[in-house]
Amino acid sequence: MTPDPQLDAALLTEFKAQLTRSRIERPEAWASSSRLVGQAHLCATLPRLVSAIQASSAPPPLRQALLAALQGGSVERVQDLSADRLTHLTGLPATKAVRSLCVLFKIADSPSAAMPVTSMTEQEIEAFVRANRNPYDLLLQAEAASLLDLGAGDLTFADEVVARYLPPLQSQGNPLALHCVDRIDPSSKLAGPLQADPERLARLRGYAPGTLDFRYWGNQDCFDLRQLKKLLPYYTIVTCNAPPTPAVAYEPSRLSASVIEAHLRKTKGHFRKIRVQGEEALEVLDGDKALLFPPWKFDIKGPLALLELMAGKGQLCVLGAVDNEVFWEILAQLPADERCRPADVIFTQANLPKVFGSLYARLSALPVGQSLDLASLTNLRQDFPRRVDQRGGSRAPYRFRHVEIRRGATFEGLPAGRTARLFKDMKDEASPWFLLLVPEHGASSQ
Ligand SMILES: C[S@@+](CC[C@H](N)C(=O)[O-])C[C@H]1O[C@@H](n2cnc3c(N)ncnc32)[C@H](O)[C@@H]1O
Repeated sequence: MTPDPQLDAALLTEFKAQLTRSRIERPEAWASSSRLVGQAHLCATLPRLVSAIQASSAPPPLRQALLAALQGGSVERVQDLSADRLTHLTGLPATKAVRSLCVLFKIADSPSAAMPVTSMTEQEIEAFVRANRNPYDLLLQAEAASLLDLGAGDLTFADEVVARYLPPLQSQGNPLALHCVDRIDPSSKLAGPLQADPERLARLRGYAPGTLDFRYWGNQDCFDLRQLKKLLPYYTIVTCNAPPTPAVAYEPSRLSASVIEAHLRKTKGHFRKIRVQGEEALEVLDGDKALLFPPWKFDIKGPLALLELMAGKGQLCVLGAVDNEVFWEILAQLPADERCRPADVIFTQANLPKVFGSLYARLSALPVGQSLDLASLTNLRQDFPRRVDQRGGSRAPYRFRHVEIRRGATFEGLPAGRTARLFKDMKDEASPWFLLLVPEHGASSQ
């Protein structure tokens, strides 16, 4: 290697950090850059890159060093570039260095918001999920690994993802974007144990820029993400661990508001909005006890809104520690058979066998730790109605090409959230469910 004596070490360090940041912040451009360095495109890419560097405001010594490393853009193969110089300037091997420069100098186009963040197709994601017991290992295959956790709670899951995946990603030279959303207002006295743990939050925020792009948006409804400028258009994986109940436990397109409200009053007790120490709260009367929750606790969104949000934001959707009530309501949305979605029928242990028939028999017999491919039990739904309008989410019709259902709260080697980790102590609770869904976009061929 011939380090450039003209280049200041601090300038080089800052330049490398800029390159990493741009890969994290523009994962779609990073993914599309792999095409630019393919043999078919390289001859066109390098002159564009060279012109962009010449026209940039980068310090002159850095510009000259980059142009020299790129041989003025006149070579035909990556192997003919000055690999040592590129590595010295970018910290990356030659091909990744050129790709990273394409992203930073805006040569890599930003295709539509729905552009995946790995170059894997929907079929390949499905094949990966079928072949690997740990779906989160997909992060290690991604061009720019990213995960969005909805309803992140105390950030146990985020912590476990970082512990498990940051070290191997770092040794691959790949950054991790880990973004978390929760509706709990961190400053609220009503937040309780699911509030983002302050120590954990500080630790996750403390990673060197360029290794982990961690973001936490508290006091943020995940069903309205339009204001979040740093939200990525698309993530490798979107998770929702212990989906909030009753928010997604009842589907408003099949249950009328009056049926849902009557059921909530019957099962939860009387409730009303009140003010407590200047804050709005939901008061729920349980016998002679008054329980306080955040005011939005009983805002019913339903599983369709959640499924659409997740399908529009992730290449792979993972729902963990799903309680029984939420599970059957989500499940009702997945088969093609409309009879799984009866109007104004609240699901109960008594009517589930009748509504779901053989599907109920097969699923309720699933032992903890085992899994089933839903398509082996019933035809999957092809016509999901579109319900929410997410900034950056795909507007095309969607469906799930693969749905795997597992029984259990935690699985060997998989990161899990607080609720999942607590399940082992809840002897009276039925085992929760774990769903893996591979979305597919565009009009159905059926
Ligand atoms: C049962 S807790 C699960 C927390 C955590 N994921 C876990 O596994 O322990 C549900 C979480 O969803 C959050 N939540 C509820 N509705 C939400 C919404 N509309 N947008 C974002 N988060 C929401 C709650 O504040 C709560 O932290």
